Amino acid sequence: MRILFITHTFNSLTQRLYCELTARGHQVSIEFDIADSVAEEAVALFKPDLIVAPYLRRAIPESIWKKHTCLIVHPGIVGDRGPSALDWAIQEQVGEWGVTVLQAEAEMDAGPIWASETFPMRVAKKSSLYRNEVTEAATRGVLKAAEAFARGGFVPTPLDYGNPEVRGQLRPLMKQVERSIDWSRDTTATVLAKINAADGFPGVADTVFGEACHLFDASAESELRGTPGELIARRETALCRATVDGAVWIGHIKRQDAFKLPATLAFAEQSAALPDAVLAGWWAAQHPTWQDIRYEEASHVGFLHFDFTNGAMGTQQCQRLLTAYRWTLSRPTKVIVLMGGRDFWSNGVHLNLIEAAESPADESWANINAIDDLAEAIITTGSHLTIAAVQGNCGAGGCFLARAADLVWMRDGALMNPHYKNMGNLYGSEYWTYLLPPRVGEDGARAIMQNRLPLTAKAGVANGFIDACLAPDIDAFRVDAARRAAELAAAPDLEQRLAAKREKRLADEAIKPLAQYRAEELEHMRRNFYGFDPSYHVARFHFVQKSPQSWTPRHLAKHRDLDWVVPT
Ligand code: COA
Repeated sequence: MRILFITHTFNSLTQRLYCELTARGHQVSIEFDIADSVAEEAVALFKPDLIVAPYLRRAIPESIWKKHTCLIVHPGIVGDRGPSALDWAIQEQVGEWGVTVLQAEAEMDAGPIWASETFPMRVAKKSSLYRNEVTEAATRGVLKAAEAFARGGFVPTPLDYGNPEVRGQLRPLMKQVERSIDWSRDTTATVLAKINAADGFPGVADTVFGEACHLFDASAESELRGTPGELIARRETALCRATVDGAVWIGHIKRQDAFKLPATLAFAEQSAALPDAVLAGWWAAQHPTWQDIRYEEASHVGFLHFDFTNGAMGTQQCQRLLTAYRWTLSRPTKVIVLMGGRDFWSNGVHLNLIEAAESPADESWANINAIDDLAEAIITTGSHLTIAAVQGNCGAGGCFLARAADLVWMRDGALMNPHYKNMGNLYGSEYWTYLLPPRVGEDGARAIMQNRLPLTAKAGVANGFIDACLAPDIDAFRVDAARRAAELAAAPDLEQRLAAKREKRLADEAIKPLAQYRAEELEHMRRNFYGFDPSYHVARFHFVQKSPQSWTPRHLAKHRDLDWVVPT
């Protein structure tokens, strides 16, 4: 079938549906929802059999839904309607939630139902639930609906509030007054629910150091205590604030007229005066707290977790991770698993921190060098077998940082975007020119960089970029990765394997030193950062400021390709 996506952006859910439908032989083209006339033009050019709206912020125009079947993905259970579906479910701490695939009609979210899926709720940020449970449920629902549509004769179920099984209801937009935290009364669980329900957007309006701002990225703290509402400590990039029954860490803050930043950087001067609740060493803390880099060990395998919010890795985060990595190499292990974070393994350099720097060009340079140092340390590790266990999504330089490991194991359902060009034609570094071509060939590498499309774990295994696609469930993935890593650590041929790896590195180095790959990549990057063409700085500004899209990139809108022939 020809399937047209009308969507607000090409976000992770849209990318996943794109990959799944394309893998099933459908031709998918994308139009961003910019204006009714633009969507109408896309329909006229693509002549879709089916229209899917994975992520919309406004209604599909009548001119389209009257003539075409349009399936809307709504992140709520059957009967739920309104723009704050997940927000209400998280804030009210419901036990089960769902996704409904319904047909667009005049009344928003009230059309007949093609598919519905449910899932147990987890205490997590809205964005994390969206990227995991909602995405999985939406994928199942859209695939079922698309199959039913292709078979023909399916009659979707009208929404009937008289049916006792319909538990959802029409809910209004959640306002800040409903999100606000009463620090003198709210427990840690309530504070977490409120911030989670607003994360990554719009955040909870609050006051920090006497200034109005929005809070994001909260986690529980079980040991530190203080007067409820008081800021009691800092640690790396986070601030700790007391609640009535404990405390929470606030990871990110958006000051007025600014963009989201790590909390201690948003209020740098004021934060410096707080006591530093530093954790000794890299071992995973044994109590609930905030710890962005943590190490665990089992069965002679070291597991290094780096759960950096949004997978963004600033200069200091890369430097700290490098220190932690070097320390893990001193442990009596032979296999190291680089776990990244639950939601993202890595999305490369930290674009918000770069944007906030006095000289974004200098900060870009420092950041790319810091991430390159880390990649180099992984590539040149001769003492250990290294594995990147990619639980969550991975973008740009983060993909090549993962590829710096000997093996890349990826969760089925996670997505990679191993390309840089979307960020203002950025050339990229992280030794991608050394790491990518041997895996996928020169032509394959060129195609990946040019096409700028997401890669699933299965497609990555097929093209050679990924070594294994493991279980879709995150807990099962972790168990599977740990079991496989322990097997490798106990394998009788481990020492031969390590020796072969060292020889291969020496042979590669003799052909072309790593330093030369890096120098060549950085020469391009120097032009991106300091040259006459400002594209990278412009693209980064729009990315960080979340500027609305004004057109659909041509690599996504197939129907706008010069070679596109309008179907008859
Ligand atoms: N630096 C800072 N923030 C980043 C980031 C980065 N490198 N990559 C992602 N983010 C942030 C986004 O701004 C967004 O923030 P929010 O919490 O305010 O919503 C959040 O992470 C999630 O990103 P989003 O784009 O919504 O996620 P996605 O899963 O739909 O898309 C990517 C993932 C990787 C395709 C997309 O985030 C991206 O292109 N990131 C930039 C990658 C890049 O160019 N890195 C620099 C070169 S190495």
